[in-house]
Amino acid sequence: MATFVQRHKKIERNVTLLAALALITVAIGGIVEIAPLFWIQSTVTKVEGVRPYTPLELVGRNIYIREGCYGCHSQMIRPFRDETERYGHYSLAAESMYDHPFQWGSQRTGPDLARVGTRYSDEWHVQHMKDPRSVVPESIMPPYAFLANRAVDAKDMASHLKVLRAEGVPYTDEDIRNAVSDVWTQARGDTDSTDLVRRYPGAQARDFDGNPVVTEMDAMIAYLQGLGVQVDFKAAAPRELAK
Ligand code: HEC
Repeated sequence: MATFVQRHKKIERNVTLLAALALITVAIGGIVEIAPLFWIQSTVTKVEGVRPYTPLELVGRNIYIREGCYGCHSQMIRPFRDETERYGHYSLAAESMYDHPFQWGSQRTGPDLARVGTRYSDEWHVQHMKDPRSVVPESIMPPYAFLANRAVDAKDMASHLKVLRAEGVPYTDEDIRNAVSDVWTQARGDTDSTDLVRRYPGAQARDFDGNPVVTEMDAMIAYLQGLGVQVDFKAAAPRELAK
């Protein structure tokens, strides 16, 4: 024991030796932590129910990015009690694994939107987007009424899906072939959506804004109504408790 302490004294008294040995120790620790990441396929655990966005949801998401909704709304519920009681189950990494770019955000002038899907009716959303203060009198959110007057431009959705596929989102050739027609199928409400729902389980297909023309309002509401509803947390609850 004494000899070990004696020998360690040498290290403690020689700054250069101490620095060199500390560097080696830290480097070994770093390699042990980082190296496994090079061999595993993905650092995100897959979760049942998480699927890529439908083309219509993607149009809505692009408008969300274009309008800078991100500047006032986050999309990430942190695992703190005050957040989970207000917004629901904390966000899982898998829930934004197909987001390029992600919309987590750090600014909450308005509430978090990660689980806003199905919380309100489509009519509420239309009214709220057109004139936020007509449903929430104290709201400071700007109105986005013009979305209801702009027809959706879907012609380049196939290329859009292709780019996302190159980034690792598992769109199939069939999804890409149908990208444009999927937009109309999901938003019109009077077309057969069986094939769309087969490829995108749980996709909600209907006329979201009550206007037969497919507008940016339809796309925005399709996107909002789909946020945070892909994972069935009720079914997973008993398993979570058992842990
Ligand atoms: C200047 C900040 C600001 C911007 C920009 C903004 N919002 Fe909001 N938003 C708010 C505030 C504040 C609220 C809370 C009051 C209310 O419901 O209107 C809110 C509420 C909401 C809600 C209701 C959420 C809930 O759980 O009650 C939705 C949905 C929403 N915003 C969507 C959007 C979308 C989509 C955009 C972009 C087109 C957007 N917001 C842009 C500030 C903003």
